[in-house]
Amino acid sequence: MVHWAGPPPPVKAPEKITEVASKTTYDSAMVEQKTRPHAIERHRSCEVSQVVFSEVENRHQHQTLEPTKSPISGCSAPVESTTDTNAVHKNTVADAAWEALKKSMVHFRGQPIGTVAAIDKSQGALNYDQVFMRDFIPSALAFLMKGEPTIVKNFLLETARLQLREKMVDLFKLGQGVMPASFKVHHCNSKHKTESLLADFGETAIGRVAPVDSGLWWIILLRAYTIWTRDNSLAESPECQRAMRLILKLCLSEGFDTSPALLCADGCSMVDRRMGIYGYPIEIQALFFMALRCAITLLKENHNDDFVYQISKRIEALSYHLHTYYWLDFQRLNEIYRYKTEEYSETALNKFNVIPESIPDWIFDFMPSRGGYFIGNLSPARMDFRWFCLGNFIAILSSLASGEQAEAILDLVEERWEELIGEMPMKVCYPAMENQEWQIVTGCDPKNTRWSYHNGGSWPVLLWLLVAVSVKLGRPHIARRAVEATEKRLVKDEFPEYYDGKAGRYVGKQARKFQTWSVAGYLVAKMLLDDPSNLRAVSLADDGHARFPVLKRSNSFP
Ligand code: GLC
Repeated sequence: MVHWAGPPPPVKAPEKITEVASKTTYDSAMVEQKTRPHAIERHRSCEVSQVVFSEVENRHQHQTLEPTKSPISGCSAPVESTTDTNAVHKNTVADAAWEALKKSMVHFRGQPIGTVAAIDKSQGALNYDQVFMRDFIPSALAFLMKGEPTIVKNFLLETARLQLREKMVDLFKLGQGVMPASFKVHHCNSKHKTESLLADFGETAIGRVAPVDSGLWWIILLRAYTIWTRDNSLAESPECQRAMRLILKLCLSEGFDTSPALLCADGCSMVDRRMGIYGYPIEIQALFFMALRCAITLLKENHNDDFVYQISKRIEALSYHLHTYYWLDFQRLNEIYRYKTEEYSETALNKFNVIPESIPDWIFDFMPSRGGYFIGNLSPARMDFRWFCLGNFIAILSSLASGEQAEAILDLVEERWEELIGEMPMKVCYPAMENQEWQIVTGCDPKNTRWSYHNGGSWPVLLWLLVAVSVKLGRPHIARRAVEATEKRLVKDEFPEYYDGKAGRYVGKQARKFQTWSVAGYLVAKMLLDDPSNLRAVSLADDGHARFPVLKRSNSFP
């Protein structure tokens, strides 16, 4: 684990917070242009585009963000004179990334409120011109690390307002706590420059699924903002307290569940198409765990309910559940391989009645002697052995994984570098589904063919998570190796959304270029490597929450 000598200087919270006015009409021509004080910069990756940053802010662009020139051609030459061509290249990558990030900014009534998913006119916009909640997380972290918290504050407040809207899918009303998957600025009257926000809670999304991850990310981001700015006032505001409670009420509501994990529909998270992740996917369970831990630190006591108590009990139960049933390493795999079935009793070892014949062949070769991970999903007679990147890395950042398990997850990444990192970090999941399995599980989805997109594709955005966990565990050489691999291609390929192929060598078939989270993910990765204290906003210390040993023996089969 990394230890810091002392707390880093806080980033100043915006002095007079320029919140977006809640009135319905707004004349953007009247907006006073603001110059914002910039925080002290430490490293090259933050430094380069300070000029670009302010310029774009001052240009006050609104949502239609036509790039005026390519971020590559437009990138400024490195300020330092150096003979080290590698260093020059790296700085150029960072320059290009900062410039692209600035161009992705979306303004609402004169204030920055988010970043578009991608600026790629060649592919047709679909909904990539919207601000996605999950996509904004790396952007928000980059802005926070850069000392620009206002956009994050505006985003949090504006999405909290959107949450209060009535949400309907056909005749069915969605839960009040649901946060939008994405939103965009609608220009109602071009003459009077009237703007409003249009949000998508799943009712217009492909597949019509509400995003379970949005609310969880929202809470995690609120904590990041609070830690960064050392300003509790936003988190303590009635708007944010209410938003948090609404999200948590949805997640903690009682139902028919026999497990503390959150039951989800396919496509309710980053993997937002049918990919066989319905049930209890690790990505959501890890985010849920982290959001619960963040909420405990942010919620104000309310003597009328036992919310905080409920949350603590859920953290404990969720931790027990995931440790006992999701953790997999060589030894555990061997135990599952020898499972008896049809056990009936509280002491059954094979609680979910997993039939050993259903264990896929690939896992026996993939599982190294050193290493382990949390499996993708678990429900009756179904263990999804696939390795999912986001869930495992969030498990490390939230300290859901014990110290030993966290090391084991990174051991696995090192042992299986070719498979998981390849030429472009990193695989969203492993392995890909092919042939009949692909047909049945994805519904013949042509976008999710083997080793493409969500089905074993490589996503540059995941770099920041890899770097964060490597830095957290004091193994930065892993991060450096991955960042170097990324730098060889990212700018040249114009920041693609994802790469295809077993080794991630090919720019994805339908990948958008200038995908904002590929841009921001790289910048966050650089800033985490440059200054490990930046980790404080996205990492939770191990508080020793209850963990229990994995069951070894069944009484019904002594
Ligand atoms: C794709 C991704 C999703 C992302 C969206 C916008 O649909 O699967 O995770 O949020 O694009 O970039």
